[in-house]
Amino acid sequence: MEIETLILGAGAAGLMCAAHAGPGTLLVDHAKAPGEKIRISGGGRCNFTNLDVTAANFHGQNTHFAKSALASFSQWDFISLVADHGIGWHEKTLGQLFCDGKSTQIVEMLTSLVARAGAELRLDTIVKDLSHDGTRFSATLERGGRREIVTARNLVVATGGKSIPKMGATGLAYDIARQFDLDVVPPRPALVPFTFPEGRFAPLAGVSLPVSATAGGMRFDEAILFTHRGLSGPAMLQISSFWEEGQPIFIDLSPATPLYDTLRAGRQQPGGRKTLATHLAALLPARLVQFFADTLPLTGNLADQSDAALRRLADQLHAWRLTPAGTEGWRTAEVTAGGVSTADLNSKSMQATRVPGLFFIGECVDVTGWLGGYNFQWAWSSAMAAARWI
Ligand code: FDA
Repeated sequence: MEIETLILGAGAAGLMCAAHAGPGTLLVDHAKAPGEKIRISGGGRCNFTNLDVTAANFHGQNTHFAKSALASFSQWDFISLVADHGIGWHEKTLGQLFCDGKSTQIVEMLTSLVARAGAELRLDTIVKDLSHDGTRFSATLERGGRREIVTARNLVVATGGKSIPKMGATGLAYDIARQFDLDVVPPRPALVPFTFPEGRFAPLAGVSLPVSATAGGMRFDEAILFTHRGLSGPAMLQISSFWEEGQPIFIDLSPATPLYDTLRAGRQQPGGRKTLATHLAALLPARLVQFFADTLPLTGNLADQSDAALRRLADQLHAWRLTPAGTEGWRTAEVTAGGVSTADLNSKSMQATRVPGLFFIGECVDVTGWLGGYNFQWAWSSAMAAARWI
């Protein structure tokens, strides 16, 4: 079969690209359903973009690379598309936009656009033996034991990253990039919970509080969640993208209330004869205070604490230093950092600079967003950049 454009991967980026790439487009995926990560995203309500999107919300080797695609198809363009399809949405927090209903509404919108564009969607299909003769790409597609050779002028790789192999994630995009001599920045799990030696935070499992967390020079003011296995919650997921193995992370457990000043002021109050632990429990979750009672000097009345003792305590709680054992890895990572090097792609079209007709879009590219709808926006914007070029 001879076609114009073969798109590999019917996830967020592949669907968006197929819906706009023009006639003669075939979209294939080895999964049984398209857009599975869209379906499970945002707790089933898909955080499909963010009101405030700039290149500063993304990381990768070239921090400017995302600018062009984000500007030519912005969050406002996707919001219009969603509104045109009658999908209700709301802002949850920090500009994050979620569907009012189920995230499958987004999958249905995209598949209907693909159908309307006349593109063919083939699921349950395995991609084999990819080659290029200088003008056209050739791929063997296998479905239910039947093989077909497809040749195409354009090949768009939208097979995502390596996160959550159970959902069908593979490293196919990186293999294709290497086959065509493109560099691949080593992929690593990102937006992923931290692990600690077993049982370390077991007494705190379920405790959540707003913190300010820092790693690798980046700071995020969001919530932390203690789990049986370690630390999770948006603040931890965010800094995991910037953390390097063996490095410490720092957590300000009371970002909104200066503990030294507050405790010092409390010392003069009538309640100053209450224990230091009781005073702290009014400022932090009681279970957390109990947890620290083993390691920090929390005994005695507040009124009896010296300035120096309060200062030391406050400093430790405002900059709690921890070194994670690791992360939960690919099993639960929301995204893959690293990927196909942006040094080998054109930022306006996502086309490989040395292989005309070869495009990489979405998560497989070395552009990784923060938590909060940024990764889907990258999928939409990079897909549109390629589709418009094709
Ligand atoms: P995506 O992974 O969506 O699609 C890749 C497609 O390629 C899949 O359909 C897969 O089956 C197919 N494929 C892979 N290998 C193949 C092969 N060898 N042959 C054929 N097909 C192959 N982001 C966000 O902005 N807001 C959110 O709310 C969330 N929530 C969220 C929750 C969870 C649990 C996860 C795991 C991730 C998120 N994300 C997110 C991240 C978001 O899902 C992700 O960034 C996008 O889906 C990336 O879109 P892509 O199309 O690049 O890859």
